[in-house]
Amino acid sequence: MKKKIIVLAGDGIGPEIMESGLRVLSAVEPQCTHEFEIQKYPFGGAGIDAAGSPLPIETLAACQQADAILLGAIGGPKWDKEIDTPEKGLLALRKTLKLFANIRPVAVSATLAPRSPLKPEIIAGTDLVIVRELSSGIYFGEPRELTATMAYDTARYQKNEIEQILHTAFKIAQGRRKQVTSVDKANVLASSKLWRATAEEVSKAYPDCQLNHQYVDSAAMKLIQRPTDFDVIVTDNLFGDILSDEASVLPGTLGVLPSASHSSDGPSLYEPIHGSAPDIAGQGLANPMSMILSIAMMLRQSFAEEHAAQLIEKACDQVLAQGIATSDLGGTASTTEFTAAVIQMCQMISATTTII
Ligand code: NAD
Ligand code: IPM
Ligand code: MN
Repeated sequence: MKKKIIVLAGDGIGPEIMESGLRVLSAVEPQCTHEFEIQKYPFGGAGIDAAGSPLPIETLAACQQADAILLGAIGGPKWDKEIDTPEKGLLALRKTLKLFANIRPVAVSATLAPRSPLKPEIIAGTDLVIVRELSSGIYFGEPRELTATMAYDTARYQKNEIEQILHTAFKIAQGRRKQVTSVDKANVLASSKLWRATAEEVSKAYPDCQLNHQYVDSAAMKLIQRPTDFDVIVTDNLFGDILSDEASVLPGTLGVLPSASHSSDGPSLYEPIHGSAPDIAGQGLANPMSMILSIAMMLRQSFAEEHAAQLIEKACDQVLAQGIATSDLGGTASTTEFTAAVIQMCQMISATTTII
C-alpha cells in the first residue's frame, strides 16, 4: 500500500539535506514492503516567502492527512524580524499535531569515535536516547510578555503531560538497558518538583526499570564526562533541547543526529536535531546523515520497515569507515558526494548480504 509522506524541506541547508535523504529513500524503496508517495509543501521561511505564513493552512492540512512527515530545518536571519517567525511555525506544527514525545538517539559507533573531539576511551560505546517533552513547558506556557524593559515566560506543566512523557521513556527503556535518568531542576523550579514527584509515581508501573534523578546542571557535565552511564534520559522541553545539542559533541557533530516526534494517535514527524545552518547553506558542506538517519527512523517507527532502516544505518556507518565524511567530521566529501557513497553502499550491501 502507498504511504503518503509530507516533505517540508524548509530553509538554509534544509532543502540540500532533504534532497539527499529523498535520494536515499528512493534507493531503498525497492527493499521496502510499502511504496511511498512524496508530497512537498512550503514551511518555515519558505512558507513565509511562498504563502505569507511559516505554517500555511495547506501545509498543515497536508501534514494532518499524512502517514509521516519529514522536515529538513527552518529559520534564518532573513525571517528573524517577522512577527510570525519560522520557529513559531515549527512550534505551532508540533502543538497542533500533539507531538509530545521527541526521541533523540545518540550513538557513537566505532567509526565515529575517532572523529569526536572527546577522548575515544570516554565516548566508546555511548548509546543513549534523549526523550524530550516537546509540546508543553516554557516553550508554550502562558502568560508570557516582552516589553522594552521587562520580559517573562511561564514554565508550566500539567501532571498528565509529565506522566505521558515518562511512560514513553520507560517503555523505550524496557526495550533497552532499563535505566531511566530523569533530568530536572527540582532544587529550584516548581515545575521540576512536580516533574520529579510524577517520575517517581510513574516508575512504580515499571518495576523492571531503574529510575534516577539528576539536576540539569550536573547532568550536562556528566553527559560529557561519563556518557556511557546513560541509557534513557527523559526531560522537559527546554532542557531536552539544550542537552541534545550538547550530546552532539559525543559523535562529533550535530550533522549526524536524527529525531522522531510522536503523538498518541496522529502522524509522526522526523527531522534532524540541528537547525538550518545559515553559515554553511548553499555551499555543499552540509552533512546529510542526520536527515538520512531520520528517514531510517521513519521507516522503522512509522512503517515497520526494519530491513530498510538497518540497511541505511549500516551503509552510513560503512561509508564513514571507508574514510568518506563531510567537513564537520574532518572529511572532504560534499553533501552530494557523501549521499552518492551512501546510496552505492546500500546497493552493495543489498547485493551481497542479508541484514536481518
Ligand atoms: P544550527 O543547528 O543551524 O547550526 C549550529 C552549527 O552546527 C553551525 O555551525 C552549523 O553549520 C553546524 N551544523 C548544523 N547542522 C549541520 C549539518 N547537517 N552539517 C554540518 N554542520 C551542521 O543552529 P543555529 O545556527 O543556532 O541556528 C540556525 C537557524 O536554525 C536558526 O534560525 C534556528 O532557529 C534554526 N533552528 C531550526 C531547527 C529546526 O528546524 N528544527 C533546529 C535548530 C535551530
Ligand atoms: C529544535 C530547535 C527548535 C526548538 C527551535 C528552532 C524552535 O532548536 O528542534 O531543537 O527549540 O525546539
Ligand atoms: Mn534545538
